[in-house]
Amino acid sequence: MRLTGFEGSAGFVAGAGGGIGRAIVAALAEAGATVFATDLPEAIADAPEIDGVFWAPLDVTDPEAVDAAVAEAEARLGPLRHGVFAAGILGGAPLLELDAALWQKVIDVNLTGGFHVTRALGRAMAPHGAGAILAVGSNAAGIPRVGMGGYPASKAALHMLIRCLGLELAPLGIRCNILAPGSTLTPMQTGMWADENGAARIIEGDLSIHKTGIPLGKLARPEDIAEAALFLLSDQAGHVTMADLYVDGGATLK
Ligand code: NAI
Repeated sequence: MRLTGFEGSAGFVAGAGGGIGRAIVAALAEAGATVFATDLPEAIADAPEIDGVFWAPLDVTDPEAVDAAVAEAEARLGPLRHGVFAAGILGGAPLLELDAALWQKVIDVNLTGGFHVTRALGRAMAPHGAGAILAVGSNAAGIPRVGMGGYPASKAALHMLIRCLGLELAPLGIRCNILAPGSTLTPMQTGMWADENGAARIIEGDLSIHKTGIPLGKLARPEDIAEAALFLLSDQAGHVTMADLYVDGGATLK
């Protein structure tokens, strides 16, 4: 079955310059949508040129800039039917060693940024009575983790934020879902495990910390995450809202 609902439609992506964000932008464009793709300036400096994709700088922690970017996207591309929050940063350190400023930064980007972006998208979609919003959470939202600072807490709260938004927006015909990846081969993941020998031995080799914990025995590719994202944004997911879709090779429920 071919996914539909993208041809001639407009989408907005925050965190579009990252590994998962880029894959989602490419998938949306390939499906026929035009896309307003935003991220921090340094993250889009080398963004690929794709037909129908407009790259723009945006810091999701700035609510006024987020509102302005969504308004600009609508002015340039027309009513937004698809909105994605894919920005995120890691949390840093064991909790007893965690600096309060880093805790705050993680909450500001992963949670409050998600609020700014999904609120702006919901406001833009509400007058049209249609649309699909997707936030990229994490399978870390449901499993306590050691040494990841405020990251799991920020993601757990983001999951709940999107469920509440979904409940409020359902009567308006707007669906809101969470996509929860497990370990995925992006700069965030490779950066976490790199050592003086590089990250390949740990990520791909026999020493892989990840493979032992993933029933399917492999890390996700950004494209795996993007394909699931496209489904949640498509007409075929028309009865799916307030859902958490785990794309983690079975790691959460093993
Ligand atoms: P990434 O590091 O490649 O992408 C994250 C993007 O967020 C970057 O482009 C970064 O510039 C952007 N960002 C950070 N702060 C921002 C801000 N203030 N304003 C706007 N953009 C900002 O990492 P990846 O893997 O593509 O991550 C995408 C999402 O997937 C994140 O929310 C991450 O937490 C989540 N995720 C990733 C997993 C993985 O293994 N790679 C596993 C589970 C969840």
